[in-house]
Amino acid sequence: MIKISHLKKSYGVGESKVDVLKGVDLEIGAGETVALVGKSGSGKSTLLSLMAGLDRPDSGAIMIRGKNLNQMSEKELTLFRAQNMGIVFQQFHLISTLTALENVSLPLMILHNTEAEQKARELIDEVGLSHRSGHLPSQLSGGEGQRVALARALASGPSILFADEPSGNLDEETGERVMDLMFDLVKKTKTTLILVTHDKELAKRCSRIVMLEHGSLV
Ligand SMILES: Nc1ncnc2c1ncn2[C@@H]1O[C@H](COP(=O)(O)OP(=O)(O)OP(=O)(O)O)[C@@H](O)[C@H]1O
Ligand SMILES: [Mg+2]
Repeated sequence: MIKISHLKKSYGVGESKVDVLKGVDLEIGAGETVALVGKSGSGKSTLLSLMAGLDRPDSGAIMIRGKNLNQMSEKELTLFRAQNMGIVFQQFHLISTLTALENVSLPLMILHNTEAEQKARELIDEVGLSHRSGHLPSQLSGGEGQRVALARALASGPSILFADEPSGNLDEETGERVMDLMFDLVKKTKTTLILVTHDKELAKRCSRIVMLEHGSLV
């Protein structure tokens, strides 16, 4: 599903240059759930954003479903991302001017899905938020907002879900509930999950744990 080889990424130039990823190799099979752990600043979010095609590496290859992300134009990448990937962030990144329902519909509309609204309603229902579908993100609680973000990420039926500390901004109990929901949905849909987390218990729920240290995976 995912094959990463010799991935390198640095930020800045000259004296302020930081070599974040110094040659990362990783293979992830379809349906695997992988926790990506490591100290703050070790490059977890950097690696995730490269895998999700949100940023480009300095060198190395990222193959997803047999396609090399580096060889795609921005336009191809945007389409490939919409078709294959869902992303959930710590700060939900919902569009503030759109309702919960509209936020979930958006990825489907981008893919010209004619049943976007119907499908979005089903997903909103699945994350238990039918009664909040008309609310704007500012009118939702943290847990509700993250459930909307989860529904949006899974709307297009992606084969891969990337999650960067998805429960990091929620209280413990709410975080746990949202994570239960995420694992349930991922399992049901056989979605491959890459989860960045500082939470050891959460990491243990994944089928594999990989750790970033000094720029490579151990
Ligand atoms: N756009 C950027 N420009 C310059 N340096 C950056 C940039 N993004 C990240 N870095 C640096 O790269 C390193 C890795 O950052 P990254 O966000 O990937 O770490 P992380 O493992 O996700 O940390 P955390 O657990 O705190 O979220 C850090 O030292 C950070 O300061
Ligand atoms: Mg991070």
